[in-house]
Amino acid sequence: MHQYRRFILLLLLKSVFSFVSATTSGKFSTWMTTSIIIRSQGIASTGLGGSSELLQAGFVQKTFRRLLESGGNINDSRSQLIAEYITKSVDSIVPRVSNATEDALTYPLDRLSNGNNLIALYNETGNSSYLEAVQALRKSVDLQRRNREDGLWYYYVYPEWSYLDGMYSFAPFHLAYALNQSESDAENMVEDVLHQFSLLWDHCYNEETGLLVHGYDESLTAVWVNQNDPKKTGASPHVWGRSLGWMMMTIVDSLEFISSSLSFNSSLSSPEFPTASLEKLHGFLLHRFQSLSAAILAVADNTTGGWFQVVEEPYREGNYIESSASAMFVYSLLKGVRLGFLADSDGPEGRVYIAAAQKAYRYILATFVVRNETDGTLGYNGTVSVCSLNSTASFEYYVNQPISYNSVLGSAAFILASLEYETLN
Ligand SMILES: *[C@@H]1O[C@H](CO)[C@@H](O)[C@H](O)[C@H]1NC(C)=O
Ligand SMILES: *[C@@H]1O[C@H](CO)[C@@H](O)[C@H](O)[C@H]1NC(C)=O
Ligand SMILES: *[C@@H]1O[C@H](CO)[C@@H](O)[C@H](O)[C@H]1NC(C)=O
Ligand SMILES: *[C@@H]1O[C@H](CO)[C@@H](O)[C@H](O)[C@H]1NC(C)=O
Ligand SMILES: *[C@@H]1O[C@H](CO)[C@@H](O)[C@H](O)[C@H]1NC(C)=O
Ligand SMILES: *[C@@H]1O[C@H](CO)[C@@H](O)[C@H](O)[C@H]1NC(C)=O
Ligand SMILES: *[C@@H]1O[C@H](CO)[C@@H](O)[C@H](O)[C@H]1NC(C)=O
Ligand SMILES: *[C@@H]1O[C@H](CO)[C@@H](O)[C@H](O)[C@H]1NC(C)=O
Ligand SMILES: *[C@@H]1O[C@H](CO)[C@@H](O)[C@H](O)[C@H]1NC(C)=O
Ligand SMILES: *[C@@H]1O[C@H](CO)[C@@H](O)[C@H](O)[C@H]1NC(C)=O
Repeated sequence: MHQYRRFILLLLLKSVFSFVSATTSGKFSTWMTTSIIIRSQGIASTGLGGSSELLQAGFVQKTFRRLLESGGNINDSRSQLIAEYITKSVDSIVPRVSNATEDALTYPLDRLSNGNNLIALYNETGNSSYLEAVQALRKSVDLQRRNREDGLWYYYVYPEWSYLDGMYSFAPFHLAYALNQSESDAENMVEDVLHQFSLLWDHCYNEETGLLVHGYDESLTAVWVNQNDPKKTGASPHVWGRSLGWMMMTIVDSLEFISSSLSFNSSLSSPEFPTASLEKLHGFLLHRFQSLSAAILAVADNTTGGWFQVVEEPYREGNYIESSASAMFVYSLLKGVRLGFLADSDGPEGRVYIAAAQKAYRYILATFVVRNETDGTLGYNGTVSVCSLNSTASFEYYVNQPISYNSVLGSAAFILASLEYETLN
């Protein structure tokens, strides 16, 4: 095995079984984690998850692994419990995703969110069922339909539509898988990740707001496409909070992964490493992460600090602060500053981002986090249910979708936000 492959696996596995000394209180992050476990969420096939079950499982696995890696205030027995829960979640999706043809026909790109923990668990256990599932997911990317610019459709049943959402699942999986391949394959896969990001910018970026709308229709036939747009982008009309939240998280997570990979390369100088394509992707994402962050900061609610369901029309009647997107932005901004992608944390700009994220976090804590006096768990409120482009995609559509209590798409995002917030103190 090539040395850099080994390193990438180490990155994925980093400290699941090492318990770094406690530096933070870890209180809300671990409390919400335990609560999700008590509610048996993020396990597919329980029937609890509905249409986003695979995404819920993948998001819970990724969040829990990040908690273990953060080395917060968790003791050995609790770490063990969380590691076992990740395995339980992964085991629950293996029978669902191990046929590549069915993957591509049945599930949106969200299914790929399970790929990173499958890779890590395969490495830890050598269990061939995990490898088969990883390979099926990888093959399913080749079977995924694409538009004429090679943009991945988000979902087989929605011809020609590409969404921001799928990138949270696609990019980290494709990158991790790529770096375990031989040079030319690795390079092609990294280039493909860059191409998908780049197409979303070409079609969904709005110059007035500096933000990205929910998705686009390459065929320009959806009811919501603005036929008078001279650029014929096929863009949907609004910036949906959670889809931009997925986008911010995948960018900051990808930047972290690429930076660690590149700094390793510099000590190794493996000729096979796809350095040039990784550096290109890093440059592309870094620049856009910075400009998106500034635009997001500008539309935070001036009273609560939170972010609205329809992000670009903050004070319009009917709009409201949405709890999953707000937590995703808190996580992304704090992590961006911590890792130096956004601004120096000691400089004035860094302090502005930190203060904005802290304000939003405190509002989230006071408003959406529910302490259950009966069983001692934490609940999470105010998370919008699914918002689809198979709709009018109008302002009224987005603000009238039902609100869920205890959706893991919100509570897991809250764990990520808490981990960053707790690191500050
Ligand atoms: C897991 O990764 C380690 C470190 O790179 C490697 O030595 C080991 O062979 C891998 N195990 C499997 C099953 O791939
Ligand atoms: C570890 O944490 C769990 C959960 O908080 C607690 O129940 C348990 O007593 C702790 N164990 C030790 C050895 O501190
Ligand atoms: C290997 O993984 C499969 C699929 O999750 C699981 O059913 C099986 O129990 C695992 N085998 C071992 C030996 O852990
Ligand atoms: C995978 O699913 C396809 C479509 O349902 C089916 O035709 C094929 O036989 C399946 N492959 C395996 C190995 O089960
Ligand atoms: C990574 O590459 C090695 C060597 O080619 C291979 O044995 C292993 O199965 C790959 N791991 C994954 C998760 O694809
Ligand atoms: C990575 O390795 C290649 C080949 O040795 C080298 O050309 C390149 O400069 C290295 N990249 C970094 C960031 O060190
Ligand atoms: C917040 O912004 C709204 C809309 O621009 C404005 O009407 C309101 O006065 C502002 N409130 C504060 C506290 O700045
Ligand atoms: C609180 O916990 C009890 C017992 O698990 C449960 O029945 C109830 O629905 C929970 N309430 C809230 C608001 O989470
Ligand atoms: C969740 O928020 C809604 C709207 O504010 C409220 O009616 C409901 O009681 C809240 N649920 C819980 C469990 O706090
Ligand atoms: C799209 O929306 C229409 C109208 O609500 C519905 O009948 C149809 O089943 C939806 N398509 C999919 C694939 O969900």
